[in-house]
Amino acid sequence: MSYEIRKLVADELDTFRQAIASGFGEDLDRDDEQSRERFKSTFDQDRMYPVYDGDDIVGTGGDFELTVTVPGGAQVPMSGLTIITVQPTHTRQGILTAMMRRHIDMARERGEPLGGLWASEVPIYGRFGYGPAVSIRSIKYDARQVGRGEAEVGSTVRLIDAEEAAELLPPLFAAVQAERPGMFQRSETWWKYRLFYDPEKYRDGASALRHALAEVAGEPAGYMTYRQKANWEDFKGEVRIREIIATSDAAYRGLWHYASNIDLFPIVKHWDLPVDDPLDHLFNDGRGINTTSLHDSLWIRLIDVLDALGKRTYSRDGGITISLSDAFAEWNEGTYRLEVDGGVGSCERVSGEGDVAMDVATLGALYLGGSDARGLARVGRIAGGPEAISLLDMMFRGSVAPWCAEIF
Ligand SMILES: CC(C)(COP(=O)(O)OP(=O)(O)OC[C@H]1O[C@@H](n2cnc3c(N)ncnc32)[C@H](O)[C@@H]1OP(=O)(O)O)[C@@H](O)C(=O)NCCC(=O)NCCS
Repeated sequence: MSYEIRKLVADELDTFRQAIASGFGEDLDRDDEQSRERFKSTFDQDRMYPVYDGDDIVGTGGDFELTVTVPGGAQVPMSGLTIITVQPTHTRQGILTAMMRRHIDMARERGEPLGGLWASEVPIYGRFGYGPAVSIRSIKYDARQVGRGEAEVGSTVRLIDAEEAAELLPPLFAAVQAERPGMFQRSETWWKYRLFYDPEKYRDGASALRHALAEVAGEPAGYMTYRQKANWEDFKGEVRIREIIATSDAAYRGLWHYASNIDLFPIVKHWDLPVDDPLDHLFNDGRGINTTSLHDSLWIRLIDVLDALGKRTYSRDGGITISLSDAFAEWNEGTYRLEVDGGVGSCERVSGEGDVAMDVATLGALYLGGSDARGLARVGRIAGGPEAISLLDMMFRGSVAPWCAEIF
């Protein structure tokens, strides 16, 4: 088979969109102007890479230009891989591998030290140097069972319309995003087409998006974006939370109290809660908060290891030498000396063997501070003596769990 990655030309946009839809087992509605506009507005045509077999598009891929928070708060360019599909007629012939080559080489050329993605299946991306760096916890509870929580006196909650939401939500999100590793910045366009975009087909029979604003002393301090799904059979309607963001503890409590006290809607669901969220302690009976799934969300790939290691801060001072293998981006192979003083790291290439050894995907898993180096050593992903592993763990572990608020 011969295939070729070409630049996407404007008049093939719908063919490309059709290939993405069919790669994910869906159909493209060519009459849906809003959806076309959404695609054009959020995707940069220069960052798309269709793969052609003759005139047919048989593979789709592309990346978003994102900026992500890393431990310590630095805002780091991240190439966000997305819309990866290969038509079932063309799988296992190396097309994904060719797209990954393009993605990583282009990111390197653009000076983006990190790659990020959400994986549909775990076995796909490790071979390309990606490691699972963030976890997602999905929950479901019956508010009558967990105790509904004390009324919060420190904040008030009111419903706002889409127009007010467009004005008030972004700064609240930005304040939290700036501090939590794994969260990336949102542009105005991103808000419009990724967060507020709300066609009927996205609702799964539930209501349109609603926005509850929490205020403390009259000032915005948090929000909850959600849908309601009525249930007239047993009157156990659902509150489906898309996002809760709070810049103050009183707003956090107030929003969860609000979510848990909507009459006729006692079932509360949140699909993407940070793993260190203290919700279980808010109610009388936290055991009633069921974790419906807990697994990887954002995967990280260090595209320029030296640059990336210098961008984050570390939780323990000291020095460690890391031997790194990177079969897919050989420029990263070698030994790195990381010296941390006052939390600030300086990194250089050295010769010789490291105190610890790992591959770049494992370093990606550690990078945002959410993974357990001792555990990774235990399963054979990191080699080294117990003291070095322990120091590595203390250095890389962050004080807050990384979190990625949305799938892309
Ligand atoms: C995942 C997908 C893009 C793989 O494309 P592909 O062109 O078949 O991948 P390649 O031929 O380049 O495979 C490279 C290697 O990865 C392995 N691999 C690829 N997809 C895999 C999968 N889903 N599970 C396990 N291994 C996989 C291949 O076996 C091959 O291994 P090898 O080098 O040891 O032979 C394709 O299966 C697909 O479109 N899936 C449905 C959509 C999807 O899930 N996209 C990912 C969104 S995050």
